[in-house]
Amino acid sequence: MADPIRHVADEASRRRTFAIISHPDAGKTTLTEKFLLYSGAVAEAGAVKARGARRRARSDWMEMEQERGISITSTVLQFAYRDRVLNLLDTPGHRDFSEDTYRVLAAADAAIMVLDVAKGIEEQTRRLFEVCRARELPIVTFVNKYDRPGRDPIELLDEIEEQISLRPTPLTWPVGDPGDFRGVIDRRSGAFVRYTRTVGGSTEAPEEHVDPGRAAREEGRAFDQALETCALLDGVGAVFDAPSFLAGETSPLFVGSALTNFGVRHVLDAVVDLAPGPSPRLDAAGSPRALDAAFSGQVFKIQANMDPAHRDRVAFVRVCSGRFERGMTVVQESTGRLFATKYATSVLAAERSTIDEAFPGDVVGLVNAGDLRIGDTLYEGEPVAYPPIVSFAPELFASVRARSTARYKQFRRGLDALDEEGVVQVLSDPDGDNTPVLGAVGQMQFEVAAHRLAHEFGAEVDLSPAPYRAVRRTDEETAKRLRSNPGSRVLVRRDGTLLALFESEHWLARLELDNPTWCLERSIV
Ligand code: G4P
Repeated sequence: MADPIRHVADEASRRRTFAIISHPDAGKTTLTEKFLLYSGAVAEAGAVKARGARRRARSDWMEMEQERGISITSTVLQFAYRDRVLNLLDTPGHRDFSEDTYRVLAAADAAIMVLDVAKGIEEQTRRLFEVCRARELPIVTFVNKYDRPGRDPIELLDEIEEQISLRPTPLTWPVGDPGDFRGVIDRRSGAFVRYTRTVGGSTEAPEEHVDPGRAAREEGRAFDQALETCALLDGVGAVFDAPSFLAGETSPLFVGSALTNFGVRHVLDAVVDLAPGPSPRLDAAGSPRALDAAFSGQVFKIQANMDPAHRDRVAFVRVCSGRFERGMTVVQESTGRLFATKYATSVLAAERSTIDEAFPGDVVGLVNAGDLRIGDTLYEGEPVAYPPIVSFAPELFASVRARSTARYKQFRRGLDALDEEGVVQVLSDPDGDNTPVLGAVGQMQFEVAAHRLAHEFGAEVDLSPAPYRAVRRTDEETAKRLRSNPGSRVLVRRDGTLLALFESEHWLARLELDNPTWCLERSIV
């Protein structure tokens, strides 16, 4: 029988766990689908999008996501490519959900940033990319939609560097202008890779490797221009560099078209060959837990009611060390209680299948894990606690009331669930005023919360904007003093943290200046 420790290390090194972040409509879904095509997981593209039956099985708030054309939920896809196992974590493509993206990125080892060649970095999504940068994750960039007219990609390189301080290092460069896309020069080999379209892009685009002499004859000016740009890129040092990529400072960049499949293989190969596999995760005290140690994992996302037929709650756990085996009993570090993992699933879009084992880098969905919270560590053997996943400081606030007092119980239950999932932060008055205040990073979080309270929990609510502009973490002592001040309010978060909310940043600045000994922490973790 194989050595079980060696087995875990081997399996871990085969994993690549990554997320795609993009602005809505930049092509994330299409690229995901093409990844499945190139991995052989689907025989023909179209399977992911034409999910008619699956759509019907979706819950109401997912309908809302479809109406708005944005992805609110996160799902996990696992597929094999070459000799690797790829775990693709989906992230919402809207800045209002950047906190959710941040949590998902806590479970990823790398990210692919998809940009639309006509649009570049869009204002609405800059925040998402900044979040990704802040995590110092290695980022691969894919400039998409080159099959149609767009901007000069050189312009986009400057924009990426200026706007999110990430230095792109193109690994391929397109031959032909946007809209007249013939293929790419592979900057490492110098070869020209010519692509041929297939009907509707539903099967792999045939690739022809053409030597430079022939490419120059056959492609003429377009090839010469691309060569000139490559020389220019060499001249300014825009060449792939592994250490700065792994540090999240430079980003290998590919230009392509997810629709016609041009360039898709290069991106997948980059994930396998360049992106890092799982590495030993640091615990809260800063010591690494070896990949082949006993099982440990961290909950990075909770999602309730994914399937309206079963009012359930799934906790997504990233495996950090060891081998996960369905049915094993693990310890929930925060409570010290034992947790039986009888219902473990892997999740493909809205469909599930039971999984029996998982390795570092994999994501396991634990169904009906009522007691698990975001950030919780689960382990077997030697105890371990991973650092908490931080919450963002809310920037928007709204008071929330149940429209009908008869539905108060449902209202409370719904709020608790949404708070645990991190849909919104629910702040309550420690002195007993029972109108909670919701805190969010983006307005749409409120809309999702109200929609879900009504449709999943049967509690219609009224939301009214609360006039707070700034938030600080505080303590009992300062809270007492603040209570006599108009223009501020002290509320308590689910984890017991006291938060002071202020109507005026200017006034808060004065208060901080006048009372240097008060506890008014900017970091609200
Ligand atoms: P998202 O998940 O990032 O929101 O984007 P999605 O893949 O759904 O793509 C948004 C639209 O852009 C889709 O068109 C899709 O077909 C198109 N698209 C994606 N990649 C490319 C590309 O490389 N080239 C071109 N020309 N178009 C691309 P749609 O009309 O909204 O949907 P559909 O009817 O085509 O499915």
